[in-house]
Amino acid sequence: MRLLAISSQKGGVGKTTVSVNLAYSLARRGWNTLLVDTDPQGSVGLSLSEKARKCQGFYDAVHTGVSVLPLILPTRLPELNLLTAGQSHSFFGSGHESMDTLAALRRMVAEIATRPFDLVIFDTPAGLTGSSGDVLRLADSVLIPQQAEPLGIRSIPQMLQAIQFLRNHGSKLEVAGILMTMVQADLKESAEVVRELRALVPAQLLCQTSIPRDPVFLKASAAGVPLGLLHRNPPAAAHVFDQLAAELEPRLQLQAPDSANEYTRLMD
Ligand SMILES: Nc1ncnc2c1ncn2[C@@H]1O[C@H](COP(=O)(O)OP(=O)(O)OP(=O)(O)O)[C@@H](O)[C@H]1O
Ligand SMILES: [Mg+2]
Repeated sequence: MRLLAISSQKGGVGKTTVSVNLAYSLARRGWNTLLVDTDPQGSVGLSLSEKARKCQGFYDAVHTGVSVLPLILPTRLPELNLLTAGQSHSFFGSGHESMDTLAALRRMVAEIATRPFDLVIFDTPAGLTGSSGDVLRLADSVLIPQQAEPLGIRSIPQMLQAIQFLRNHGSKLEVAGILMTMVQADLKESAEVVRELRALVPAQLLCQTSIPRDPVFLKASAAGVPLGLLHRNPPAAAHVFDQLAAELEPRLQLQAPDSANEYTRLMD
């Protein structure tokens, strides 16, 4: 079971959008995926289901020690399950503030590992402290969405330094990739940012796939669905996440059984 954090120092760069759509694509590709919302605002739950918003979830398991397994919600896609953020406010003023949340998170992951999940994707709140920091300490890999706007990329070297710091202190965290989001290929400034970032970080860290800016994302989030479920014939941007999933599989060391590599003839 691999643990992937979707994290960035900056807010509003597309973490939740990437988490939901990437989890959907990976699940469609056959990986048993658990999407965990660790944002106290409950963005994933909010964006997928009205009902899920009121459920117990991540913060209840971390803070009260209840078993996490009964809190995992199935989706219509058998390979995709969801753990909502739950009720983070139950923590404050509860007398648990000084508890070791990292140890609690570790226990929770051990419990999740008893289920046949290939991959756990954590959508984290912006920043590298608090629950984001705890998730990064435990995760195998981190995907860093980066909005294609000039001011944003300055936080990337800082983020890479923070990851190096964690690695120096015993974490196994690898960078799965830096993912450009909200790219406007027709806009000079946007293309310039992508070029600048290429110059700023080692080439292998930058994902080949980038996510275009497209109003269809707003439509999908208003409807509470991944792009792939927006219409019977999903919009082009939905397929970008299939491409991203294919690009990340080897980086995440997701290993398919040999039988999955056999081709199927179209005709006998
Ligand atoms: N590629 C895109 N094109 C257009 N709009 C997008 C795109 N990606 C995300 N958005 C929109 O931008 C807003 C912020 O996206 P999102 O919530 O995914 O960011 P976030 O990094 O999770 O934010 P936060 O730091 O607050 O958790 C949302 O309204 C979302 O619908
Ligand atoms: Mg978010």
